[in-house]
Amino acid sequence: MKISVIGLGYLGTTHAVAMAQLGHNVIGIEPDSSRVQALKAGNLPFFEPGLEDALRQAISSGKISFQSHHDDLSAASDIHFICVGTPQISGQQSADTSYVFAAAGQLAAVLKPSSLVVGKSTVPVGTARHLITKMQEVSGFVPRLCWNPEFLREGTALADSMLPDRIVIGSDDPEYNQALKGCYQTMIDQGIPVLELDLETAELVKVSANAFLATKISFINAMAEIAEASGADAVRLAEAIGLDNRIGKSFLRTGIGFGGGCLPKDIRGFIARADELGVGDSLAFLKEVDQINLRRRQRIVWLATEELGDIKNKKITMLGISFKPDSDDLRDSPALEIALRLQALGGVVTVHDPVALENLDKKSSGLISEADLSTAVKDADLMILGTEWADYKNLDPEAVSSLPRIKTIIDGRNVLNVDSWQIAGWRIIAPGRNIVNV
Ligand SMILES: NC(=O)c1ccc[n+]([C@@H]2O[C@H](COP(=O)([O-])OP(=O)(O)OC[C@H]3O[C@@H](n4cnc5c(N)ncnc54)[C@H](O)[C@@H]3O)[C@@H](O)[C@H]2O)c1
Repeated sequence: MKISVIGLGYLGTTHAVAMAQLGHNVIGIEPDSSRVQALKAGNLPFFEPGLEDALRQAISSGKISFQSHHDDLSAASDIHFICVGTPQISGQQSADTSYVFAAAGQLAAVLKPSSLVVGKSTVPVGTARHLITKMQEVSGFVPRLCWNPEFLREGTALADSMLPDRIVIGSDDPEYNQALKGCYQTMIDQGIPVLELDLETAELVKVSANAFLATKISFINAMAEIAEASGADAVRLAEAIGLDNRIGKSFLRTGIGFGGGCLPKDIRGFIARADELGVGDSLAFLKEVDQINLRRRQRIVWLATEELGDIKNKKITMLGISFKPDSDDLRDSPALEIALRLQALGGVVTVHDPVALENLDKKSSGLISEADLSTAVKDADLMILGTEWADYKNLDPEAVSSLPRIKTIIDGRNVLNVDSWQIAGWRIIAPGRNIVNV
């Protein structure tokens, strides 16, 4: 099929490469010309394991190309996927859908009546129907539109795109779904279930799934608060309750909470949308989910202060600043926010990360960025593990022991082996646990 993918961020680039891997002819459209140049040269504008190799293969097979605007060729695509961002509006809870409406408006100006428009961005329920009206005002006909939310996770994005747990398609007309199912036929043939829904339900699948995942994380972090106050151990608690197969252990690890470009803004946008719909009470619990999550960040600041006394002029090293491992995404990163809060308290904060330091200058200031791990930890008064990169999980406490001045680490993600760190002479502190250090 001839495919256009509109918006080449984490979602759009991955989707474009995935579609090329399925054998389609893909044109990626992105207004940021430096991004287009990078992609044309086979360079990913962000870090995502395995995606750059797949991009280069797609380029050399002639299956993918990139440009800044629609042209006759892209307009003639069988399917146009809208993959632009829907960030939180600054100073508000709501999702900013202006990029979706702008991209849809530009597409409507060149759209062919036979082409299918497929929204993949995460949007507030009701957006797709509004989009149909707006596009019709430009194109003069009712666009054939489906909503097909994306569930990929950064760090495993390409594999998630190629082998999703399910394919969700929302539309007003089952006939529209046929073209999209044809596009995904190779995946469907592998047994991936397809759910054909109405537009509103399809939009809701994505935000409600994210709300559920966020709730699960905040649930165990609320238990961590109880554990901290009562002397219990939230890590062992999570292990015990996670073995109940009605509950399951995934998303039940206590620590500094969730961040990134999706969960936080999606639950806030969902709360705002429920308010608009007059059913704000239904999602009142999500406000608490958000608050529990944000309190975890302050908990680490509190633990650091308890350990160091006055933070002022203390040297603190943050291990990891991306919001999750195997990603360079700093959007709403808990580790980065903690580093900045400690710096605001007068701490001299050095940050290390295997891939995300490059993005730091644009987003923050004042933190000392150090790419060499030994140098980053050498003079630290305190180390904090902020992102559970394998490099940190696999740190040999004996080897690190020869470097720092004071041997205290806060394991913000509860991934270190407490016994081996203590045997190597470290004090180890972790949220949700009452670890006895002798
Ligand atoms: N990042 C993820 O892991 C992920 C996973 C699932 C769903 N989503 C959803 O996918 C959407 C995109 O997220 P992202 O992380 O890729 O965002 P992003 O900010 O990385 O990328 C968005 C891209 O769209 C481009 N863009 C903006 N306006 C445009 C226009 N008019 N025409 C063409 N391109 C335009 C931007 O320049 C940018 O490159 C969001 O709704 C997000 O919630 C993201």
